[in-house]
Amino acid sequence: MGLRITLFVAALLLSGAASHKSQAYFNETADLPCRFTNSRNISLGELVIFWQDHQNLVLYESYLGNEKPDNVDAKYMGRTSFDQDNWTLRLHNVQIKDKGFYQCFIHHKGPRGLVHLFQMTSELSVFANFSEPEISPLSNITRQSGINLTCSSSQGYPQPIRISFWLKTKNSTVEHDGVMEILQDNDTELYNVSTSLSVPFPDDTSNVTIVCVIYMDSRETLFFSPPFNTEAINMESDETKEREKIHVPEQDDEEAPCVLHCSKIPSGDRNATHF
Ligand SMILES: *[C@@H]1O[C@H](CO)[C@@H](O)[C@H](O)[C@H]1NC(C)=O
Ligand SMILES: *[C@@H]1O[C@H](CO)[C@@H](O)[C@H](O)[C@H]1NC(C)=O
Ligand SMILES: *[C@@H]1O[C@H](CO)[C@@H](O)[C@H](O)[C@H]1NC(C)=O
Ligand SMILES: *[C@@H]1O[C@H](CO)[C@@H](O)[C@H](O)[C@H]1NC(C)=O
Ligand SMILES: *[C@@H]1O[C@H](CO)[C@@H](O)[C@H](O)[C@H]1NC(C)=O
Ligand SMILES: *[C@@H]1O[C@H](CO)[C@@H](O)[C@H](O)[C@H]1NC(C)=O
Ligand SMILES: *[C@@H]1O[C@H](CO)[C@@H](O)[C@H](O)[C@H]1NC(C)=O
Ligand SMILES: *[C@@H]1O[C@H](CO)[C@@H](O)[C@H](O)[C@H]1NC(C)=O
Ligand SMILES: *[C@@H]1O[C@H](CO)[C@@H](O)[C@H](O)[C@H]1NC(C)=O
Ligand SMILES: *[C@@H]1O[C@H](CO)[C@@H](O)[C@H](O)[C@H]1NC(C)=O
Ligand SMILES: *[C@@H]1O[C@H](CO)[C@@H](O)[C@H](O)[C@H]1NC(C)=O
Repeated sequence: MGLRITLFVAALLLSGAASHKSQAYFNETADLPCRFTNSRNISLGELVIFWQDHQNLVLYESYLGNEKPDNVDAKYMGRTSFDQDNWTLRLHNVQIKDKGFYQCFIHHKGPRGLVHLFQMTSELSVFANFSEPEISPLSNITRQSGINLTCSSSQGYPQPIRISFWLKTKNSTVEHDGVMEILQDNDTELYNVSTSLSVPFPDDTSNVTIVCVIYMDSRETLFFSPPFNTEAINMESDETKEREKIHVPEQDDEEAPCVLHCSKIPSGDRNATHF
């Protein structure tokens, strides 16, 4: 009884002391180490080594020096490789669902049966980098209508804590937080995010550079969109455009020339920088 309790406490201390945090990117390879110091130089042929997940499903087993697939769960079949030099199991093609706790166990098979030698817990975190955020205008940017655009990015993990727009003018940079919309893929558990911005055009300038920034809590990571440069089409051109639009239905047969004419107006006015 006394001996059993001692062994139990020793095992707890061992597993508590030897705990490790692993990180891996989605679809890449994770290392699940087993920091066993083989001080007695016991050969693999006398050891039983296996890894389990938090549901006690077996990822890999080496039984007296041979890989033994019998106990390996189907979800881990063909996804692992054991590195004998550093007692590390490599888990390939990592999915978001793979995050969590893993344990490795090492037993010695001696004349009197299996003896527990070592165990260790690892916690695996999985990340996926969001795609480069992309800004797209929702409507033409004018002094009247202001700035109205969205920013979207896909296939990241975990959820961002926020998405902001940086509006840079010659004199200042103003940050606007957007309301984040989040979609999660049911299979991969990766997130798509988007947010929109609707603000008046700044008074003190004729052009603005906008950058969309995704803030991740973990790793203090930011993802930046390429800069989006914009100038306000001035109000006069807006009114001209409205007039052209009204004329369109009356000139049914000449729609094509009008479209050409209409599209010239904003580009022509971009040269006018005097407001
Ligand atoms: C996973 O990686 C493979 C090659 O390493 C690639 O072909 C595949 O597109 C990737 N899948 C995802 C979802 O990124
Ligand atoms: C461990 O044992 C192997 C053979 O079983 C031997 O080749 C190796 O040199 C030994 N290593 C140490 C550090 O004793
Ligand atoms: C184990 O060794 C392999 C190469 O032999 C290396 O790629 C891997 O990073 C090592 N893992 C650890 C946890 O040291
Ligand atoms: C994710 O982004 C980080 C930081 O930019 C980079 O170091 C890492 O290589 C990227 N990983 C992948 C899988 O793209
Ligand atoms: C921004 O554009 C969208 C789509 O064109 C429109 O539904 C929305 O009303 C616009 N918002 C503002 C403030 O102009
Ligand atoms: C911007 O204006 C042009 C010309 O008036 C028009 O063809 C285009 O559809 C507008 N774009 C948006 C997003 O409203
Ligand atoms: C997320 O975005 C990707 C690429 O734009 C798209 O293929 C995928 O269907 C989107 N997933 C969801 C859940 O909307
Ligand atoms: C994902 O799951 C939700 C709820 O289970 C369901 O409403 C939605 O249609 C599913 N989406 C896809 C793309 O399967
Ligand atoms: C920029 O700031 C300076 C002083 O801070 C001011 O005099 C100038 O008018 C500003 N320029 C614009 C375009 O607002
Ligand atoms: C914005 O306009 C000013 C002049 O009004 C010019 O000097 C500057 O280069 C422009 N910036 C961008 C990003 O177009
Ligand atoms: C606008 O300016 C550019 C260069 O400054 C010039 O090449 C172009 O012809 C101008 N467009 C119009 C409509 O005046």
